[in-house]
Amino acid sequence: MKELILVGYSSYLNLETILSAQLPKSNEHDEMLFITIHQAYELWFKQILYEGKRLQKLLLDGETYQSLATLTRMLVILKTMVKQTDILETMTPLSFSTFRDVLDRASGFQSFQFRMFEFFMGFKNSAKMNVYPENSPEGERLNEYYSAPSLYDSFLRYLHIQQYSVPEEVLKRDYQSVYTGNEKVEEILIDIYRNDPITSLLCEKLVDLDEGLQEWRYRHVKMVERTIGVKMGTGGSSGAEYLKRTLSSPAFVDLWNIRCQF
Ligand code: HEM
Repeated sequence: MKELILVGYSSYLNLETILSAQLPKSNEHDEMLFITIHQAYELWFKQILYEGKRLQKLLLDGETYQSLATLTRMLVILKTMVKQTDILETMTPLSFSTFRDVLDRASGFQSFQFRMFEFFMGFKNSAKMNVYPENSPEGERLNEYYSAPSLYDSFLRYLHIQQYSVPEEVLKRDYQSVYTGNEKVEEILIDIYRNDPITSLLCEKLVDLDEGLQEWRYRHVKMVERTIGVKMGTGGSSGAEYLKRTLSSPAFVDLWNIRCQF
């Protein structure tokens, strides 16, 4: 006879571990929210990266419809992350100042999953890896993303599989470098927008994802400005001034360059 194994809600979700991981260092009420929101973000980063890996595989398999479905899910996650800034914006500068000291040098700047997502989107930057000690698990995981094809590289490969004549030098480019655009690829994309509706939908979803990351950066910098103004960051940067420099840089440049060519 088969043995019946009961799996309860708490044990299935490992709630004991998750719910005991919020450990405020002060007695200030809002520190709990600050911890919870960052942990929630890290879980969403984890999920979006997980979906991202699947998306790259689907693209390499030429699976258009499933790629669209996965991209759509990633977009909804990203939109949710953007919206979550509203919660932390209920914390006033005064309230944050009561426990900011306990953060010491801890900062979102050190979020290796955020960097993995940036690398996945194509923002490769070896300097961002110096934050992590050599051979640390975070550094090694980030290094993997640094050397791997970005989402856009996988998309270019997908176009090649769909018989579009993507230049060889683009397909074989150095994945550790930032992709800066290619005129031949732009021509292909214009043709797709005119004649290949399903692939053009995929292109539009990629633009949505790119814009979504820019939206997150904008909401984050506004949250920073309203919470600490022009103060320096705990991670050692100039704070809002540094963050503003990262705004409005698109990842998928070809898809933005062609917008004026119709
Ligand atoms: C009151 C709320 C927050 C403040 C005042 C704040 C402040 C800052 C500052 C000043 C920086 C620049 C780096 C430095 O520390 O010197 C930064 C970077 C960053 N923060 Fe926040 N942050 C807040 C909330 C969040 C939340 C909820 C997340 C979610 C994970 C987050 C993720 C990040 C990331 C990923 C970076 C690196 C951005 C980049 O380098 O482009 N932050 N934050």
